[in-house]
Amino acid sequence: MRVLQVQAEIFPLLKTGGLADVAAALPPALRAQGADVRVLLPGFDAVLQGLSDAAEVARLHPPGGLHAAGGTRLLLGRLSACGDLPAYVIDAPAYYHREGGPYADLHQQPYGDNHLRFALLGWTAAQLAQALDPLWRPDVVHAHDWHAALAPAYLRQAQLNRQQHLAGSVYTIHNLAYQGLFNPRHFRELGLPADHWGVNGLEFHGQLNFMKGGLIFADRITTVSPSYAREIQSPDQGCGLDGLLRQRTAHLSGILNGVDAEVWDPRHDRLIPHAFGVDTLADKARNKAALQQELKLKGAAQAPLFCVVSRLTEQKGLHLLVQAAQGLIDAGAQIALLGSGDAWMEGAFRAMAAAQPDAVAVRIGYDESFAHRLIAGSDLIVVPSRYEPCGLTQLYGLKYGTLPLVRRVGGLADTVADTQLDTLDSTATGFVFDAFEADALYRAAQRALAVYRRPQEWQRVQQRAMQQPCDWSGPARQYLQLYERVSG
Ligand code: ADP
Ligand code: GLC
Repeated sequence: MRVLQVQAEIFPLLKTGGLADVAAALPPALRAQGADVRVLLPGFDAVLQGLSDAAEVARLHPPGGLHAAGGTRLLLGRLSACGDLPAYVIDAPAYYHREGGPYADLHQQPYGDNHLRFALLGWTAAQLAQALDPLWRPDVVHAHDWHAALAPAYLRQAQLNRQQHLAGSVYTIHNLAYQGLFNPRHFRELGLPADHWGVNGLEFHGQLNFMKGGLIFADRITTVSPSYAREIQSPDQGCGLDGLLRQRTAHLSGILNGVDAEVWDPRHDRLIPHAFGVDTLADKARNKAALQQELKLKGAAQAPLFCVVSRLTEQKGLHLLVQAAQGLIDAGAQIALLGSGDAWMEGAFRAMAAAQPDAVAVRIGYDESFAHRLIAGSDLIVVPSRYEPCGLTQLYGLKYGTLPLVRRVGGLADTVADTQLDTLDSTATGFVFDAFEADALYRAAQRALAVYRRPQEWQRVQQRAMQQPCDWSGPARQYLQLYERVSG
């Protein structure tokens, strides 16, 4: 089974969110089960720099509108930072060699030609399915998020033109809120047939919608948790696409993300001061002491420490924590946050830390190794999302015995089991609340503090959390089953 994974990011070379973690972890998990996996990525500087043994596979001649000044080449090499993963990389400096991030410039303004930059990604995937590389043709093209969503559309077009099945297609939604919306006049530049426009094509309330390319033209649609797969079929969470998703319900499923044990495993984590495991939780306490010292958090070792590692966007619901924080601090808790995003939320957390530096520490920015120290050294990790397709930090929390305090939504609901009197000795792995309200978060946190005061019970929940199976082998098996069904 030859599988081409198509996406815009990959950890550790280029990451803006969990998509990059999945892009890096799924291929080796599939390979471990016998699949022959390659990835296709845009040639951002970080990706080109990470590509070893690069050789030109072909010069690309995309449809007129997608043509990048200076030309476009397809390279094949290996990503040594990703376990020597074979990677096709689109070398189109006019599109991908930019000063800012992968999607937006230094002022956070989306690039004006994003529709071209990412249409080229989807178009190239479909070319590979048409034997652009005579030595390797995928049986399945698996495209992720809106950036790669035109891959199934171009593939369908090629199959219709040739009257031939070329490859199966799977499209994974990591976040339905980001759909890739553009001015409709750009549709003509994509080189897709006119009948790909309209409600049964890429049109969405008069705009061009890339995500619809995946939702309409892929053989199978997945998203990253069973709960989110259900939720997005309702108007409440469907972001205007719930009708289409209900139409495709028979071909839509949820497959939970896993944790990449190469990166997140407290027994072997070189980014934390003291490795620990389920039987050596005393060493977790040493990480906590080191963290409290690093953050200048005062007070006793037994002060319960809540952490957050997150993008600070509306999705993540962290304003609930802003509102509930004082009550927790008054109850003796400490809070440590690493994140960046919306200015007002950055400001709210900064102000909290400035007012109470003994109890609150805030670091604004992106810092991979600090994320590890924070998750290893804290007692709880807070993820109060408004919606959450899967969420990875609560899974890292489980593995590190840092009990997740989460809202019952999406993948959070599917991965964390609430601690109640009747679950304490059976299923409990964290603390879960329902209403999207600060008070609901606060009450769940109070329950957490009550259990925390009983160290033996706390430890039992920690140990159960750490033993939850959340590696990638299960999800990889499920994706493989899906690939078998669509590869024809
Ligand atoms: P999302 O993709 O919606 O942001 P996930 O929980 O799936 O949410 O993935 C977020 C990923 O980004 C995790 O690997 C998390 O550790 C990481 N992350 C988020 N914010 C930061 C940050 N400020 N510094 C370092 N890592 C971060
Ligand atoms: C998205 C979602 C997040 C998910 C990640 C990886 O960024 O917001 O919930 O874990 O993709 O699938």
